Amino acid sequence: MRIKIDGIEIDVTSGETILEAARRAGIHIPTLCYHEAFGGQGICRMCIVEVKEGNRTRLVASCTYPVNGEIEVKTSTPEIERIRRNIVMLLYRRAPNSEFMKRLYEEYGRPADITPADPEESCIMCRLCVRACEKVGSHAISAVLRGTEKRISTPYDEPSPDCIGCCACAQVCPTGTIKVSTMPGKYEIWNKAFEMDRCESCGRPFVPPVILEHVRSKLGPEFTEEHLCPDCRKKKTGKIMADSHMSK
Ligand code: SF4
Ligand code: SF4
Ligand code: FES
Repeated sequence: MRIKIDGIEIDVTSGETILEAARRAGIHIPTLCYHEAFGGQGICRMCIVEVKEGNRTRLVASCTYPVNGEIEVKTSTPEIERIRRNIVMLLYRRAPNSEFMKRLYEEYGRPADITPADPEESCIMCRLCVRACEKVGSHAISAVLRGTEKRISTPYDEPSPDCIGCCACAQVCPTGTIKVSTMPGKYEIWNKAFEMDRCESCGRPFVPPVILEHVRSKLGPEFTEEHLCPDCRKKKTGKIMADSHMSK
């Protein structure tokens, strides 16, 4: 199937989203709640595009819109840019305390003078952290409360028994809202402290046991049989390869 995005003809497989097709063709569409690892969520609407199908023209979220027929897409029009500026303005008003939002606000030409609801807030409620946690299989965090109070947290803001401390949520967070505090031999995330096991070779702390248990439950016991940090594992693998090379 062939579609047109900004006048460029692109071959698309049925079901592929407009965003995926555009990215493949090197066409930029701004996104906030999309991540390659999880796909689109349709939450932020930054990725809206204009779609013309027959005589019908409408605005859709490109990250969730699957291509099922011949369409023409425009990724930028005065109306789309106005909507994106509005989104940036609202998100900056909600979450002014992040470099990410400050940059976006400048990039979109400071759409309006903002009186922030909470100058300390940095979360834009993109939910990428929640998706990351779901993907890891923990479901330890979710959106809590409503309206302007809405935020991401563990149930009752208590340390969650489901959190394995993998930090995937912090890794995907675009605004740096999720803090990981590190201390000697341990770290803390979502109010939960994780003591780290030591490498059986060099003795350095390298991973909390709960993560090893999780990986073992997913990949089988062989995967984590040895208790080696990445450096010692690399050294050992290198030695095995060198030994086998020598014996040839
Ligand atoms: S650190 Fe905890 S909350 Fe964050 S993704 Fe991992 S399991 Fe989920
Ligand atoms: S904490 Fe970060 S990833 Fe999670 S919703 Fe807020 S901005 Fe998005
Ligand atoms: S990136 Fe498409 S709705 Fe957020």
